[in-house]
Amino acid sequence: MKILILNGPNLNLVGRREPEVYGDVALDDYLGGLREEYAGRCELVAFQSNHEGELIDRLHAAGYGGEGERAAGVVANFGALTHTSIALGDAVRAVPVPVVEVHISNVYAREGFRQNSYVAAGAAGVIAGLGLEGYRAAVEYLLRAGAGG
Ligand code: DQA
Repeated sequence: MKILILNGPNLNLVGRREPEVYGDVALDDYLGGLREEYAGRCELVAFQSNHEGELIDRLHAAGYGGEGERAAGVVANFGALTHTSIALGDAVRAVPVPVVEVHISNVYAREGFRQNSYVAAGAAGVIAGLGLEGYRAAVEYLLRAGAGG
């Protein structure tokens, strides 16, 4: 079974970007380790884009794409688009796949504008503030909820 991990704008810079907020471990390195750790339980596929439309396309493919594209669950950190994108919120509601919203930082302890999410209402749940471990928690949840089949 496949679980898609989607990351939005600026998350390619995690490890170098504001390390006091996001830590100093590169997201690619962390997710590579997670992929290996979970290899026997599921296939973790990670995709990062700085472009809203590409994230929407990947969500659509996770729900309605061909055999190789569909996913049983999605872990999504849309970065700042979380707080601005009605289109991403609609896309999450449009696909028949559970989506767990993840934020590395505790968005509720930061600026007010980070406390609005257009995604959360359509998500299975939200994890914020656990650092990169939030991705692992989301994968675990999806597997226990049945995405691992
Ligand atoms: C973030 C929180 C967002 O507010 C911010 O714009 C990001 C990262 C997080 O993972 O903590 O880019 O999604």
